[in-house]
Parts: sequence; C-alpha cells; structure tokens
Amino acid sequence: MTGVDTRFPAGFSWGAATSAFQIEGAWDEDGKGPSTWDTRGHRDGGISGGATGDVACDHYHRLDTDLELMRELGLTSYRFSVSWPRVRPDGRGRWNSAGLDFYDRLVDGLLNRGIEPMLTLYHWDHPQALEDTGGWANRDMAGFFAEYAEGVAERLGDRVTRWVTLNEPLSVIHSELALRASSSLSAGERRRRALRMAHHLLLAHGLAVPRLRAADRGGEIGISLNLSGMTPASDTVEDRAAAARAEAYEDRLFLDPLLLMHYPEVDGAPVVDCDPADHALIVAPIDFLGINWYAPSRIADGGAGVFGYTRTDFPGVGRNMLGWPVAPSAFGRLFSWLRESYPALPPIHITENGMPGLDEPDVTGSVKDLRRIAYLRACLRQILRAIDAGMDIRGYHVWSLLDNLEWEHGYRPRFGLVHVDFATLARTPKTSYHWYRRFIAEQRGLRGGVPCSG
Ligand code: FCB
Repeated sequence: MTGVDTRFPAGFSWGAATSAFQIEGAWDEDGKGPSTWDTRGHRDGGISGGATGDVACDHYHRLDTDLELMRELGLTSYRFSVSWPRVRPDGRGRWNSAGLDFYDRLVDGLLNRGIEPMLTLYHWDHPQALEDTGGWANRDMAGFFAEYAEGVAERLGDRVTRWVTLNEPLSVIHSELALRASSSLSAGERRRRALRMAHHLLLAHGLAVPRLRAADRGGEIGISLNLSGMTPASDTVEDRAAAARAEAYEDRLFLDPLLLMHYPEVDGAPVVDCDPADHALIVAPIDFLGINWYAPSRIADGGAGVFGYTRTDFPGVGRNMLGWPVAPSAFGRLFSWLRESYPALPPIHITENGMPGLDEPDVTGSVKDLRRIAYLRACLRQILRAIDAGMDIRGYHVWSLLDNLEWEHGYRPRFGLVHVDFATLARTPKTSYHWYRRFIAEQRGLRGGVPCSG
C-alpha cells in the first residue's frame, strides 16, 4: 500500500524536478560560460562548506544513467532547467551549439522513454556577463531573456511539452536582499531595488510568452511561483497588518500582475509603480500556473527585514533541517486561499514539493527516508482534496529526483528520491523512490490502462 487513496484524475502528470546548476556540473566544459552561481561558488564563503557546482551530480556526463532512473521510476513528466550560460555563454551573443546539443539529447532521451519534458528557462543561474551589466536590476535583462527564450524554443520547441519561463522570481529577489543585507544602501533603497528587480523579472516573463508561442509548436507555457500562505502570529492589529504585508510582498507580488493586471497594495499604494504598457505585457495569458510549495509562513510585525515583518514558529509544529515548518495540511489552506483570491485561476501544476534530510545509507546500503514518504503522502492527500473540491490541478513534481547542490546551503540538505554519494557520484534509489514508483504505477494502472507493476 502506498498510503494515498488512488483517485487522481486520469492523465495526471507524475514528475520529479531538478535544475541545471544544482545537478549538471561540467561548469566550464564544451564552451559553457560562467553563471552567477559559479562565481558565487568560487568566492570564499560564497556557498556553505566551500561547495561549488563544478561537478555537482555530474549529470552532464551521466545523462543516460539518470534517464534510466527516471524511466524505472515511471515518471510521466520531468522538470529540468536549461543553463542559460551553457547555451549562450555571455547571455546575448553567440549561441553555443554543444550546449544546445546536450538539451537536445536530454529531451529526446525523455521522449524515447515516454516522459514529457517540462523545461524551465530560468532557474537562477544567469550568465555572469549579464550580472556584470546590472543583472535583474537592469531593465534590459527582460529583453535579453526573451531573446534567449526564443532561441531555445527554436531549437527544442518541436518537442517540449511544457515551458516554465521563470522559477521562483521571489527567491531571486530574496537571495539578492540577503546578499545585500549589510550593504550601505538604506532599508528603503534595498526594498525599492528588490521590487524593481521583481518588475523586471515579470517583464522578462511577459516578453518571453509571445515569443515562445511563436517559436514553439504547441507546448504549454507557464511560470513557477513559490507560494507559502500567510498566517498572522496573533490577532493583534500589528500582526494582522504584517501578515497582509507579507501576502502583498510575497504571495501576491507576482500573482496579482500575472492574473489581475495590477500590483498588490500596501498602505493604499501599489507596491510597484507600473506603466499600463508594462501591465499589458505581464498579463499575457499563460496555460498553467506552476506552484512550488514547501511550508506555510507565520508572520509577526517587526524584525530586521526591509518589509517590516518576520517569520515565527507555529506553536507545536516541528521544523525540518532547514528550519521550515513541517505542516502539510497548510498546503490545503493555500489552495483555498488561491481559489478565493483568483477566480480565473489557470490550470495548476505542482512544479516542486519535497523535504530535506540528512539521508545516508544504513549498514545494509539502503536509505530509509521514511519521514520524506510521510510528508509527500500528506501533501498528495491535500492535492487530492483540492481536486475533489474543484481545483484544476494537473501534475505533481517531487523536488528532487537526485540529492543535489542546495544553493547557499551546499550539499548537506538532501532532497532526492535518489541518494548521491558526492565522493563517488554513485546513485542509490532511496526508500522514497521505491514508494513513489509503486504509487505512480498504482495510479497509472488504475486510471491510465497501464498494467500495475508495483
Ligand atoms: C526551491 C528551489 C529549488 C530547490 C528547492 C529546495 O526554492 O526552486 O531549486 O532548491 O527550493
């Protein structure tokens, strides 16, 4: 028994997700240019434990092994990202055909195994050369991104099932705010800069959508947002106002302009002062909304952040190794909030959901990540409930297929269904992999006419 009622709709996509910087390695091979994250990893103290993405999971050289792991798992969708500097080393000049060839092989390898490619164009690792011209603080980035998107679609658009323009633009600005926390800029200046970056990210998305449609042959287009769902820490006026601010500066910051053609308001004014022409670009219709969900947020007034609120613990709720509350039932509350707040919500794909751990093989060599299974199961139950309540949710991707480089946290937090020994690069499917394989088989066996082999 896999522990979740087998009632997901026929045709529901069963996936796992990764991103280029976190797994590929080969950071300077075959003509790839450096990304901002390569630069950060090579800087002293840039990533925890002195980690770099130079080798990561060595996925670039182990593509066939990893494709086989996906096939055996029974995935019907795989979400990966293209490394912008691998295919266009300085971001806007020459294209690198060796880099494009790699993604060609990946996409064909997926299709040959009956797995739909979900391609993310931007999962944070933009070319260092573009960072040197101001990165997302520079409005020109939006145009560079749209050109890059079009070029990738010209090459792969005949085979990609789903496009994700941006992954978690909110995390991009949070990461920037964290890096600049001790800069000489005032809190107000840092806040305004972050919001300007958010606007440029949205513009990049808005400019890319029509170009993807023109170059692609029928793939669906969406964007992945990390949403959490905000709960005030208390009933005080201050905490409730802080939670409303958090909702505006996080959950609504991208959703409102994408779906409602306006920015959310704080203190009676939109958080970004935006030209109507920009709004018209950003609201370009999308085919699906990607949601990445890990944990809810409990918000109190005050704190050191530039938005005047802070996160606090949920009483009685445990935390995972990254300090995130383990509260899967809050996933359901997010769905209800979405339905109430956005009546014309596009179809949804869960593009990331998962749990970090310190998973290591035991004496028998197996990796028994039972807490991860419990968490994924509980999240899947919430998704099923939301579907039963009428929400159009069409797919689910576990973060992540492989243990990988967890950004600034380095290699310690392990999110994979497959354990990676970073010394030998050996892959060992964890107990969660075997559980998910049976689960997918059950779902497809019952509903899709595929024999249940689990
Ligand atoms: C998300 C990122 C993804 C991964 C997970 C744990 O914010 O999109 O790359 O790091 O968190």
